[in-house]
Amino acid sequence: MKIIGIETSCDETAAAVVEDGSQILSNIVSSQVKIHAEHGGVVPELAARHHVEAINFIVFQALKKAGLDFQDLDAVAVTVGPGLPGALVVGLAAAQTIGTVLEIPVVGINHLEGHLYANFLTPEFSAKTFFPAMALIVSGGHTSLVLCRRHGRYQILGATRDDAVGEAFDKVARFLGLGYPGGPVIEKVSAGVKTDLKFPAPDAGNYDFSYSGLKTAVINWVRQKRPAPEVIPEIAAAFQKAAIEALVNKTLKALRDKKINNLVLAGGVAANKMLRETFQAKSQNLNFNLFLPPRELCTDNAAMIAAAAYYRYKFVKKFLPLEVQPNLNL
Ligand code: KG4
Ligand code: ZN
Repeated sequence: MKIIGIETSCDETAAAVVEDGSQILSNIVSSQVKIHAEHGGVVPELAARHHVEAINFIVFQALKKAGLDFQDLDAVAVTVGPGLPGALVVGLAAAQTIGTVLEIPVVGINHLEGHLYANFLTPEFSAKTFFPAMALIVSGGHTSLVLCRRHGRYQILGATRDDAVGEAFDKVARFLGLGYPGGPVIEKVSAGVKTDLKFPAPDAGNYDFSYSGLKTAVINWVRQKRPAPEVIPEIAAAFQKAAIEALVNKTLKALRDKKINNLVLAGGVAANKMLRETFQAKSQNLNFNLFLPPRELCTDNAAMIAAAAYYRYKFVKKFLPLEVQPNLNL
């Protein structure tokens, strides 16, 4: 079953063709990062306009790269939420058009579910041994601990009370004058940096996260101490360490409490090397299975949307309404 995925929820215009939920035939991502970097963050109106300009070309590229024609497609997958309304509507309109003209099903996908299914795109992945799994979904908009019982069956254990972890990376990077997006640049300047500087790992009780406190701690420290520019890598490294510590502590607690042996990471922040390496070490010491998407599939892409649609179409058989749902939950 060949599914074309379409993703336009934020600042990436993406289309991809995936076969049977596992084999990537093409994966095209057009990033608007340069456009938004000038403004220090995503400008919704600009994002929507650039999706309109890019979407047709990106869809054609995805087909061309896969060596396919429209007639070879069996279904269309599209992100219906959460995301920016004006951005989501562009992908949805494109998907509805393809579905209507070709008379093939259009499967609406939750963006967060898509992130989860990026894990299904690794060659060694086995869907048979995946469930039950604990998922840590960490992106620009979400920090969620989710117990996944089977395809489409999710129980949210904890979420962010304020800023998401990726959002905190972005805001701290902007404050430190490091640019946008913050995650990759904080990771880069922190690499190999040793420091005694310490920020407290944020704790919102139970399985919930809070990152606005950590962001404020960094900002207050800088305002009080007025450090020299050479100290910025140390500040970035101390922030990264505290941010990751909170993710690791909560996740390990959830695995213990719920007696789950499979852990899966998902979302843009899952590309972070320190986060990946910390969980890799923990999985060996504590003897649980760790699933990590390839780094390039952690950030927004359409292959993950097509993969999620395959499993939803085949196994869940319950479909999301084909309408823009900016605040959609799992
Ligand atoms: O999943 P994603 O591409 O978009 C959303 O659904 O939000 O995640 C984007 C977020 C941004 O906040 C970005 O700073 C963060 O993921 N990110 C990272 C890294 N790469 C991207 N955070 C930490 N380390 C990274 N290497
Ligand atoms: Zn995302």
